[in-house]
Amino acid sequence: MELTYARYLKLDRLLDLQEPQSKPPEHDETLFIVIHQVYELWFKLLLHESDKIGRDLSAGDLFGAIATFKRVRMVLKTLVAQIDVLETMTPMSFLAFRDRLETASGFQSEQFRELEFLLGCKRPEMLAYQPAGGPARARLQKRLEERSLVDHFYDFLETRGVAIPETLRARDVKLPNGPDATVQEALLHLYRTQPDVSILLELMTDFDEGLQEWRYRHVKMVERTIGNQRGTGGSPGVEYLKGSLFRPVFPDLWAIRSRV
Ligand code: HEM
Repeated sequence: MELTYARYLKLDRLLDLQEPQSKPPEHDETLFIVIHQVYELWFKLLLHESDKIGRDLSAGDLFGAIATFKRVRMVLKTLVAQIDVLETMTPMSFLAFRDRLETASGFQSEQFRELEFLLGCKRPEMLAYQPAGGPARARLQKRLEERSLVDHFYDFLETRGVAIPETLRARDVKLPNGPDATVQEALLHLYRTQPDVSILLELMTDFDEGLQEWRYRHVKMVERTIGNQRGTGGSPGVEYLKGSLFRPVFPDLWAIRSRV
C-alpha cells in the first residue's frame, strides 16, 4: 500500500484519542485534553533529544551538544507559550468538568518525572505515583538508576581538562545532583579561556531558565484557575508547586554568574 500523509503519521489513531469524559459535553474539555496530549508529545521529544545530549557530552562532542541544546531550548519556549492557550479557559469552565478528572493530575505524568530524573532532579518518592509492576514504573526506575545529564556534563568537562572531584565521580546516581565549588571554579576558568565552551554553558543556562519559566507559568495558571484549592493529584496545590520554583538544574552555572 502506498504511503500517504495520514498513514505515515498514523492520524486515524492519533485523532481518535481525544475522548471527553463530561456528559453532556463541556466545550473546553477538548482543549484541556488536546493541550495535555501535545505536552506529552513534546515531553517525548525532550527525552529523546536529552538522551542524545548526554551521549554527545560524554563523547566530548561540543557542537553536537550545542545543536541539540538549541533545539530543546526552543521546545521549552513552545511549552511556555502554550500555557497562554489554556489560560483562555475560565475557572468556571474548568470547574464544569474538573470532577470528571477524579484523581488524575499532571502530578502523575511519568514522562515529566523521567525528564526531571534525567536532568538530575531525582525524587524517588515520585515512583509511587506510577502503578506498581507496570511499564511506566519500570521506565522511571531505570531513569532513577541512570546517570543524569549533569553527570554526563562532568564527562564533557573532563575532555576539556577539568579534574572532576572523586566524590562526584563516585556519587550515588540515585541521589539528586547538587552544587560543587570545584566545578564552579573550573567553569569560571572555561568561560575565560574557551569561548566555544562558553556558548554551550550559555545554552545550558537558557534551558535551565526555560524550565523554571515553565514551572512559574504553570503555577500562575493553576492559581488563576483553581486558586488555593487542593490538586486532583492530592497535593496542597499552589503551595506545593511553589516549592520547586527557582530550583535550578545546573546550580553551578547560576552560582558563578556574578563572577563570570
Ligand atoms: C487548568 C490547568 C491546570 C491545572 C488547574 C493544574 C493543576 C495542577 C496541580 C494542582 C498540581 C499539583 C499536583 C496535584 O495535586 O494535582 C499540578 C502538577 C503538575 N501539572 Fe498541572 N495543572 C494544569 C495544567 C497542566 C498542564 C497543561 C500540564 C502539562 C503537561 C501540567 C503538568 C503538570 C505537572 C508535570 C505537574 C507536576 C509538577 C511537580 O510535581 O513539580 N499541568 N498541576
